[in-house]
Amino acid sequence: MTRCDRTTAWAALTGHFEAHGRDFDLREAFARDAGRFDSLSFDAPEVFADLSKNHLDIATLRFLLDLARECGLEAQRDAMFAGAAINNTEDRAVLHTALRAPRGHGPFSDEVHAVLDAMLAWVETVRDTVASGIRHIVNIGIGGSDLGPQMVVPALDAFAHPGLQFHFVSNVDGHDITPVLRRLKPAETLFIVASKTFTTQETMANAHLARAWFEAEGGTDIAGHFVATTTNVTAAAEFGITTTFGFWDWVGGRFSLWSAIGLPIAIAVGADHFRELLAGAHAMDRHFAEAPLGSNVPVLLGLLDVWYRNFHGATSRSVAPYHQGLRRLPAYLQQLEMESNGKRVDRDGEPLTYATSPVIWGEPGTNGQHAYFQMLHQGTDVIPVEFILVRRPTFGSVGLHPDLLARLECQQTMLLANGLAQSQALMHGKTTEQARADAGPAMSTQIDALTLARHRTFPGNRPSTTLLLDRLTPHSLGALIALHEHRIFTSGAIWGINSFDQWGVELGKALCKDLLPRLSAGPCADSSAVSDLDGSTAGLIARLRS
Ligand code: F6P
Repeated sequence: MTRCDRTTAWAALTGHFEAHGRDFDLREAFARDAGRFDSLSFDAPEVFADLSKNHLDIATLRFLLDLARECGLEAQRDAMFAGAAINNTEDRAVLHTALRAPRGHGPFSDEVHAVLDAMLAWVETVRDTVASGIRHIVNIGIGGSDLGPQMVVPALDAFAHPGLQFHFVSNVDGHDITPVLRRLKPAETLFIVASKTFTTQETMANAHLARAWFEAEGGTDIAGHFVATTTNVTAAAEFGITTTFGFWDWVGGRFSLWSAIGLPIAIAVGADHFRELLAGAHAMDRHFAEAPLGSNVPVLLGLLDVWYRNFHGATSRSVAPYHQGLRRLPAYLQQLEMESNGKRVDRDGEPLTYATSPVIWGEPGTNGQHAYFQMLHQGTDVIPVEFILVRRPTFGSVGLHPDLLARLECQQTMLLANGLAQSQALMHGKTTEQARADAGPAMSTQIDALTLARHRTFPGNRPSTTLLLDRLTPHSLGALIALHEHRIFTSGAIWGINSFDQWGVELGKALCKDLLPRLSAGPCADSSAVSDLDGSTAGLIARLRS
């Protein structure tokens, strides 16, 4: 495996960027090539990817594919699927793909399917709400033990059990759990303590609080109302939990929604739909493993990410899902990309000479349009935007009056038109002459026409990708998430980093342990001196304790 900055393709890309990349103009590219859309759009399972509105042409793509080959992307990918310990700093395999492989396929199949079968059988007992009496599911977990289920449950609302409400508590801040507890009764509530390690400070604090609340409100059957999803079955038992669904150290936290961590999803949508979610992800796994690099959508997206980050100098990527159900997708992708690829040394610990993870951010369309799209269109930074459009809605299945459904169909068309219009506006822009020729709303009468037109000019030539799904179903959502996992694998492999550890979260955790007794007032107070601390931290502690 060769580090990207030591490949001939990297040098070639550097030259290509100077000659053709820096001044690439999307409008000219479309004018030059009538077949551009066809040659730069690709099909993957459940996802159609239009890359044609990117600063990319066939020549660039060829260099990027050379880069992938020189960096040994295929060998790295195959090593992951085969269960090699590619997470070298923790000596662990990376096998979330095994969690969605059909029975009898992939590593650890017997173990995976034994837990899956047990979990999905148990889920149906909770979903029988007449017998179980359960109305509220509270998932207590953070990071990868929260963001996946928190994203997927609303995304699959059209498939969800109508009699169950889902709550996600993650923050150690008591303002997270208290509004949830206010709405609950012990007999109707199932708490899921979700933690790979079962030691995470925030999760354990909230789990103990939930148990104290449960008992204070007259609940007695802890074993019946608390379950755990964890690799640390012993710690869960010590907490008093008897129903535990386990998983394994080869499942990274941010890749764990396919494991027992997906329990809230399975309760929401039921066993068959959960299996569909896994099947959709598996279909994308096969595509990633088998499709030639030049038509392999996760590979192409990952290479595009490298092209923008390392050659165009883009520092972020904005995600704009045009489906309200995907409102938590940007937050989910933020952890997936930034915790995986936010690294500054290569796999051998050598400092990198090039940039890695972009910042991932976004909001669902059309809300983002009325908030920060101004900056995307007219700001000084060029930020690649990823639009996710879903052709057909799923609200038809919730039994609405036909008149309302007709209106909602119109709104769906409005939604899609908005998404398309934004990518069009980013690309085409508007010249000063065009701005001068048309009138805008509420224009000043005090400023001369040319000055006003300059304010109303859009530079255009701003890149975007459009990912198109037919419907948001368990199967298509599974494929969409796996697509992102593999595009992040791809860029991480090109960068030569370990995308599967997260040492950057450790230092703050350790310092917090040290500060906690110094900050505490009341019975937990420790009068430890603060004189060994830096002036700012000591000063802030003094103010907080005063
Ligand atoms: O923030 C670090 C991290 O380890 C994440 O990678 C993980 O998803 C999260 O904490 C939660 O960890 P656990 O599931 O062990 O509670």
